Amino acid sequence: MTRQKIAAGNWKMHKTLTEGQGLAQEIRTMAESELMSNATLMIFPPFIHLQSIAKQMEGSNIIVGAQNMNENEQGAFTGEVSASMLTSIGVKHTLVGHSERRQYYNETNASCGAKIRTSLKHGITPVYCIGETLTEREANTHFEVVKTQLLALEGLSSEELSKCIIAYEPVWAIGTGKTASAEQANEMHIHIRSVLAALSNADCANGISILYGGSVKPDNAKSLFGMSDIDGALIGGAALQSRDFLDIAKSF
Ligand code: PGA
Repeated sequence: MTRQKIAAGNWKMHKTLTEGQGLAQEIRTMAESELMSNATLMIFPPFIHLQSIAKQMEGSNIIVGAQNMNENEQGAFTGEVSASMLTSIGVKHTLVGHSERRQYYNETNASCGAKIRTSLKHGITPVYCIGETLTEREANTHFEVVKTQLLALEGLSSEELSKCIIAYEPVWAIGTGKTASAEQANEMHIHIRSVLAALSNADCANGISILYGGSVKPDNAKSLFGMSDIDGALIGGAALQSRDFLDIAKSF
């Protein structure tokens, strides 16, 4: 089973519009001249840059997605952005449940499940972010925690599930410079795939791309991507430098 290989850059709350356009352009230019593999590049700029950067990336293979999306269709939800707003500007991918959103904005497995359902209804691919905290890992509950997070997908048909991307990001490895070892990450990816298989079937689970995130850099990407069940990366800090982002994308 060949799964889509993905290098995805989460820009978080970084870059002004001009800076963001500059970064996107550098990534496009470098990808067009250097990227020989069939890896898919995705970038997730802040909401306010989406329309402009999505337009700028037209005609390239670079996918532009949102960092979040509200689960409701529309209404009195000040400050929020809906699925149809995203599709109206050509955006068809969104992160869901990034650990920073769970930590600072009280997102839960239930709200993530609702966002995933709304996104799929609108033809938006959710990149569902899961992962345990350091306390959970030290208590040896990490497999259980991740399984519970995945239960947000329970009830989706295999067809719907096959449209999802999973990003495993151990919270203790995000922005800390501490990466899970390739073996540690792969062990969890295999667990995730087995939970996905239980939620659907082995064929469906084998087709789903599972990305690793947490301090991915050009110097550790190759060993991570060499593992059986790691299909790419969700990259924070290193995605803010076009050179580093491309070097990671070239590590497949
Ligand atoms: P990092 O962030 O690469 O800076 O650790 C990853 C993420 O939060 O998606």
